[in-house]
Amino acid sequence: MKSLIIYCSDYRGNTEEIAKEIAEEIGGRLVNIRDLKDETIHTDNYDLIGFGSGVYRESISNSLYRLVDDLDLEGRDTFVFSTSGVGIKLYNNKLIKLLEKKGASVRGNFACKGSFTPSEFTDKKIFNIFGKKSQGHPNRRDRERAKRFILDVIGDH
Ligand SMILES: Cc1cc2nc3c(=O)[nH]c(=O)nc-3n(C[C@H](O)[C@H](O)[C@H](O)COP(=O)(O)O)c2cc1C
Repeated sequence: MKSLIIYCSDYRGNTEEIAKEIAEEIGGRLVNIRDLKDETIHTDNYDLIGFGSGVYRESISNSLYRLVDDLDLEGRDTFVFSTSGVGIKLYNNKLIKLLEKKGASVRGNFACKGSFTPSEFTDKKIFNIFGKKSQGHPNRRDRERAKRFILDVIGDH
């Protein structure tokens, strides 16, 4: 099975840790979106394509949305993952909708916490609680969850 994982992890490399964990299980090509430059991706070269991102101000990376929008994904098997301060799957919904609109089949959806320091980007006190809870993530348990997640995805592939 040939796979491709494209991720954006501009803040601290939290999402990259998860991307690497997944890539270790399924092999294939792992690409930071920053390194894609003007390369044209031939999606028909891959059996499975994963898209991952950190969450920045309530949204996964715009560069990832743009890339997905440009790709030919009709009939492709895909999966999505994100890391965020709160660690919820809700942030993946817009990307899932876009993938489905493009005719892709979304085989899996993963999210976990990723550490952040609220004072670096917000004055809102509420984020301090999430900031504290996020410390140390992704941790070993998150990485194990990611591993089980991708084994499930390829299991029903
Ligand atoms: C500018 C900025 C905005 C963020 N906004 C949110 C947010 O709205 N919700 C959330 O849960 N986490 C938020 N976070 C935390 C990140 O989603 C978290 O640290 C994530 O793991 C970053 O992934 P990365 O290191 O792969 O870039 C934000 C972080 C930064 C730097």
